[in-house]
Amino acid sequence: MRELGIVKKIVSIENTTALDPLVEKADGFWAAILKPRALRDLLHGVPFGHPVHPVSVQVPIGAWTSAAILDLLPGTDATSRLLVGVGAVSAIPAVLAGWTDWLQLHEQQKRVGVVHAAANATAVALYAASWIQRGRGKQTSGKLLAYAGLAMVSGAGYLGGHLSFRQASAANHAEAVQHLFPEGWQTLGPIDELLDNELSRMDVAGQPLLVLRRGKSVEVLSNTCSHLAAPLDEGELLGAHTDDPCVSCPWHQSVFSMRTGEVVHGPATAPQPKFRTRVTDGLVEVMLPNAG
Ligand code: FES
Repeated sequence: MRELGIVKKIVSIENTTALDPLVEKADGFWAAILKPRALRDLLHGVPFGHPVHPVSVQVPIGAWTSAAILDLLPGTDATSRLLVGVGAVSAIPAVLAGWTDWLQLHEQQKRVGVVHAAANATAVALYAASWIQRGRGKQTSGKLLAYAGLAMVSGAGYLGGHLSFRQASAANHAEAVQHLFPEGWQTLGPIDELLDNELSRMDVAGQPLLVLRRGKSVEVLSNTCSHLAAPLDEGELLGAHTDDPCVSCPWHQSVFSMRTGEVVHGPATAPQPKFRTRVTDGLVEVMLPNAG
């Protein structure tokens, strides 16, 4: 079985530069609104370890799908109208989480993202019009508007899937490390060759590692950022002389603890694979728990 022709059209959105002025406007607008870092971390889903946006769309889509089924049955006008309204209001957190994630994407992903957002905005407008029409007693036009909204939100959902899975905008880009890295202790190199309190990249078993020597101890993470795969050794070392030094990603400034690999600030929501280290006869060795 081969993919449908329409998929190629959707893929072509990724390189449609005509969308760039719209991308730029949306960028300026949402960057100004979503400024506080604590708010952005929450909307990215840092405390939950997963992006919030895919979860937050469940309520509006569930409410609107339920309304579409009830609209086929007699005596359900009031409940359908309630569900249409609940869907429109509950879309607000999903919209905020979606734009927060969108701000930290590559340009091809942002183009698909603005089309996804425009389709969803149209769906919300159709549902709002449906709610108004139903309130005026115009059930038929209210139902037709709601079905048009459902078609629009379904198309938007397809684009969201393209963005999340094919363009991997919401995937953990460091997940494969534990499958690629060999089991057991591996040699990294002589400790004397590592500069103190400086980030460096070293490759072991074909995997890029981020290395930080601190006196006699060495902290090692995967060098591939879990957000969108940036090389972390090109980032900035924060808190070099504290108990919890961190690395700030060069692309979208996610911050990870060098001690634990945990996310301190998003947009990343998945931690960096953290390697155990030991020094034997002047040689640093690394081991990734559960690797292989
Ligand atoms: S690649 Fe986006 S924060 Fe690292």
